[in-house]
Amino acid sequence: MSQIKHVAIIMDGNGRWANQRIRPRIWGHVRGSAVVSDIVQSADELGLKALTLYAFSTENWSRPFEEVSILFRLLSKFLLKEKQRIVFNNIKFKVIGEIQNLPAETISLIKEVEDLTTNATGLNLTFAFNYGGRAEIVRAINIFHASHPEKEMTESDLTSLMYRPETGDVDLMIRTGGDQRISNFLLWQMAYGELYFTPTKWPDFTVGEMRKIIQNVSSRERRYGNVSAQNGLGDSKDSAEVNKASFLKGINS
Ligand code: FPP
Repeated sequence: MSQIKHVAIIMDGNGRWANQRIRPRIWGHVRGSAVVSDIVQSADELGLKALTLYAFSTENWSRPFEEVSILFRLLSKFLLKEKQRIVFNNIKFKVIGEIQNLPAETISLIKEVEDLTTNATGLNLTFAFNYGGRAEIVRAINIFHASHPEKEMTESDLTSLMYRPETGDVDLMIRTGGDQRISNFLLWQMAYGELYFTPTKWPDFTVGEMRKIIQNVSSRERRYGNVSAQNGLGDSKDSAEVNKASFLKGINS
């Protein structure tokens, strides 16, 4: 069984895909939203527990007005079209990002689907919308300091204050469209995530390609700073603490 449980995707290349076909950029987004439906539907078959999709970044506001409007409309259309299937498939849906200042009808649709799926126990489906990874970390720090002004923050404090802590760390981040960067996406959750960049533009991305990527990445060894488990030298977290203590004691004595 695959170790890849939480996949995050930067769905890039819609505009270029459309331009190559002498179509307006928004055509690429329309086709891209059909791919979102396919991938969400296949998440179980792919063995996923969490799927996080970057649908609108805080930087996307700088796009032409028409393009911003279509991205909002596609989010609403997707939710209206898919909500019954999301409920039927036991998917728990949530949007992460600064949604409180978005149009009222967008917020109410998001809330409706979140509320409908609040008790679901299947896939954790997350759309990052008006989202930025640095802003998520700063928000978490501010929440922490407001309630614990005197306390020193730990990594687990910060983890628990991310927008959706139950989805945990990202195992694999896929970016379509050929660029090789993470563009302010899930910065905290990606610390040990595997990265996979494919030249395929998002509207051409398929469940088959995603399955191959997961198979490929599952065969990579994830060492988390340890030595290879295959040569029998790998240590547990507990023995790492023992090692560290005796090493430092040796140096300092
Ligand atoms: C990047 O492509 C993609 C986006 C900014 C938005 C992703 C949106 C979708 C896949 C469609 C609808 C979403 C939902 C929630 C159903 P780009 O425009 O930057 O492509 P380019 O790099 O070729 O210009």
